[in-house]
Amino acid sequence: MARVLITGGASGLGAALARLFAARGDRVVVTDLADDAPVPAGASYLRLDITSEQDWDRARDTVRSTLGGLDILINNAGIAAGGRIDRVPAEEWARVMSVNVLGAATGCRTFTPMFQAQGSGHLVNVASMAGLVHPPAMAPYSAAKAAVVALSESLRYELAPHGITVSVVCPSFFRTDLASSLSDADPLMSEIARRLIDGATADADAIATTALAGIDAGRFLVLTDRSGRVAFWTKRLLRPLYDRQLTTMGRRITAAENKETSR
Ligand SMILES: NC(=O)c1ccc[n+]([C@@H]2O[C@H](COP(=O)([O-])OP(=O)(O)OC[C@H]3O[C@@H](n4cnc5c(N)ncnc54)[C@H](O)[C@@H]3O)[C@@H](O)[C@H]2O)c1
Repeated sequence: MARVLITGGASGLGAALARLFAARGDRVVVTDLADDAPVPAGASYLRLDITSEQDWDRARDTVRSTLGGLDILINNAGIAAGGRIDRVPAEEWARVMSVNVLGAATGCRTFTPMFQAQGSGHLVNVASMAGLVHPPAMAPYSAAKAAVVALSESLRYELAPHGITVSVVCPSFFRTDLASSLSDADPLMSEIARRLIDGATADADAIATTALAGIDAGRFLVLTDRSGRVAFWTKRLLRPLYDRQLTTMGRRITAAENKETSR
C-alpha cells in the first residue's frame, strides 16, 4: 500500500490518477488550489498552491504526521499557455514558469530530504509532449515543459544513489479542463490550443491508466499515447520529416495570422 500525494488532483489527470491509486487501496492525499474538493473514497484532501513554499512545508508536515512518510509524489498541477513570441507578455511567461517549472521544482525540493531519510521514494513529474517536441507558437508552454523534463533527468541521476526513482510523464493533448487556464494574451493561439484539448481523442482516465503502468514499472520517460510516441521517434529518427512538419505548421500559423489581420 503506497502513500501518494498528487498536486492538481481536483481535476483532469490528477483526479483520474487519484481514483486509480485509491481504488487499489493506496493512501492518497489529493491537493489543489481550492479550500476543499471531493476526493475518492479513502483519500484525503489538502489545499496546496504549488507556487507557495509555505503550502509545501505544510503539506510535508501533514504527510509526515498523518502517514509517517511518503512513497510517491506526483507533481501533476499545471497550466496551459500558448502564444506567439511577440504576443505573450513578460507577466504571462512568469506565470507559466512559476506554476509549471518552479511549482514542480519546489515539490521535489520539499520532499527529497524525506525520501533521502527513508532511503526510498518516487518523484513523478507530469510534463507534456511539448517538453520533448516543440511546435511553433507554443514557446512558453514548450519551454516550461522542457524544463520539467530537464529537471527530472537531472534528479534521476542525482537521486538514484539515495534509492529515489524519478519519472516524467509526457502526454499529448487529452480532454480535461486545462484550456480554462489559458490566458487571453494571444486569442488566436489560445483558440487553437482549446480546440486541440477539447477535441482530443483520449480522456484523462485513459492517460492516467497508461501513466500509472509506467510509474509502477519505475520507467523514467513515460509516453502515454500513440501520437506522442510517433512524434517523439519522428524527431529522433526522421529529423528531416520532423523539420518539414513543423515548418509547415509555422507557415499555417502565419497564414492564419494574415487572415486575422485582413479581417
Ligand atoms: N490536457 C492536456 O492536453 C495535457 C497534455 C499534456 C500535459 N498536460 C499536463 O497534465 C497536467 C494536468 O493537467 P490537466 O490536463 O489534468 O488539467 P486540469 O486543468 O484539468 O487540471 C490541472 C489542475 O491543476 C490545478 N492547479 C493549477 N495551478 C495550480 C497551483 N498553482 N497549485 C495547485 N494546483 C494548481 C488546477 O486547479 C487543476 O485542478 C498539467 O501539468 C498539464 O500541463 C496536459
